[in-house]
Amino acid sequence: IDSSHEPVEKMQQICDLLQKNLPTYNWVGFYMAHETEPTLHLWCQAGEPTDHTVIPFGKGICGQVAVSNENFVVDDVNAQDNYIACSIHVKSEVVIPLFKNGKNIGQIDIDSNTVAAFDESDERFLEWVNEQVATIL
Ligand code: SME
Repeated sequence: IDSSHEPVEKMQQICDLLQKNLPTYNWVGFYMAHETEPTLHLWCQAGEPTDHTVIPFGKGICGQVAVSNENFVVDDVNAQDNYIACSIHVKSEVVIPLFKNGKNIGQIDIDSNTVAAFDESDERFLEWVNEQVATIL
């Protein structure tokens, strides 16, 4: 992580690092909650661009995590009813809420082109990543 100061720049660097170095992390992004509206907004991402830059609370895996405050590991995205497809190549996904002072203010979202790419070690690692990000927000 270099010396840029804006949180979003540091978060972009984290996306790039994870996406470049972890072979099954094919798309990495941070969706952050709007201050007043019940919507998530894509602050930064690494991987193929997505049309889904704004997601209402409750919609898709991301929107569900915005209201559940819980990790969501999806081994097979095609088996999910409430799912927003960003790419036909994606097979599995993990979304981990990001807490600041106990409040769910956003999330890290990882897509993989491999089925069941994420396990508990990914959850623990990504919880730690989010804890680091929370300290710069
Ligand atoms: N699949 C997510 C949408 C975001 S894309 O993965 C980048 C969902 O169902 O919420």
